[in-house]
Amino acid sequence: MIKVGIIGAGRIGKVHMESIVTRVHDAVVKTVADPFMNEETEAFVRRMGVENVTRDYHDILNDPEIQAVLICSSTDTHSEISLEAIKAGKHIFCEKPIDHDLEKIAAVIEALKGTGLKYQVGFNRRFDHNFMAVRKAVEEGRIGRTEIIKITSRDPEPPSIDYVKVSGGMFLDMTIHDFDMVRYLSGCEAVKVYAEGANLVDPRIGEAGDVDTAVITLQMEDGSIAVIDNSRRASYGYDQRVEVFGSDGMVAVGNDTDSTAVLSNASGVTAEKPQFFFLQRYMDAYGREVSEFIDAIVNDKETPLGVVDGLKPVVMGLAAQKSLREGRPVLLSEIM
Ligand SMILES: NC(=O)c1ccc[n+]([C@@H]2O[C@H](COP(=O)([O-])OP(=O)(O)OC[C@H]3O[C@@H](n4cnc5c(N)ncnc54)[C@H](O)[C@@H]3O)[C@@H](O)[C@H]2O)c1
Repeated sequence: MIKVGIIGAGRIGKVHMESIVTRVHDAVVKTVADPFMNEETEAFVRRMGVENVTRDYHDILNDPEIQAVLICSSTDTHSEISLEAIKAGKHIFCEKPIDHDLEKIAAVIEALKGTGLKYQVGFNRRFDHNFMAVRKAVEEGRIGRTEIIKITSRDPEPPSIDYVKVSGGMFLDMTIHDFDMVRYLSGCEAVKVYAEGANLVDPRIGEAGDVDTAVITLQMEDGSIAVIDNSRRASYGYDQRVEVFGSDGMVAVGNDTDSTAVLSNASGVTAEKPQFFFLQRYMDAYGREVSEFIDAIVNDKETPLGVVDGLKPVVMGLAAQKSLREGRPVLLSEIM
């Protein structure tokens, strides 16, 4: 049984805690650390059967029984805690993004070299049953050569303005999942990014210097084209769809709904709305990604996505930011 420590007990820290307890074999959460631990969070942690609660994550790093850490704290702490955890000899699952600064990610890549430690980044959508089926179809050549990838990714509601201010901007906070999805579905890298953005949802997001609506096009190294559309607000729920079009066909997935019931009556024909947000849509995916991380430790395998997979979407996000700022397509080679 692998003993793990969770650093950061906010939204995603609680998701991983719960999924380890309910969905992950071979792992147990020994300690949870959060400097702002309050009564409510502590009660949640206790309900999950976790032995120790601390405000200082060094208690986790200094515990020889703990083999692995999940870094679920705010983004600005990820690269620093990664470096400390590597020094302490812990395997690391780090939430996205590792950092917004490429040099800080490079330092993590460097520090990992030769340690034999496992490192996985939290791009959970790769573990969603729908997207896995799309990737499988592409990988097996069932749609021929990939020509167009279309991703729709819209949140049901915008985050708080305080969150927006420290998020690094929509491209590095939200679109980063879609950048990873483009890499995952295509199996190749982007070479050029062009972004259009607008502030249509909440003027306070614009005042904070960010966009809330965007369309991003990417040229891929295999010659295919990808397009991502994002909004911070979809009035009907969490809108997460993809389509891959190729020389021999097309594979697409729609949204998950709580049921497939379709109501037909004199007023019309009505189906269920998409599930509300990531906590509903991706709970199984969160369980699967951590199971694979633990499996990599137990069976000494590569993690399904490593530290370089954490770096590439940040490069794509920085290119999208530059593209929007300068009103022109940006080559990824300008950023790396
Ligand atoms: N993969 C996903 O689907 C997904 C979803 C949400 C968030 N995230 C990522 O997870 C991270 C956290 O997001 P969140 O929504 O849970 O935020 P949150 O604000 O709800 O939680 C962050 C927690 O980290 C704690 N924290 C801050 N500094 C700390 C430190 N030094 N040591 C320990 N804890 C510390 C805070 O007190 C807070 O409780 C972000 O990087 C975000 O990008 C990923």
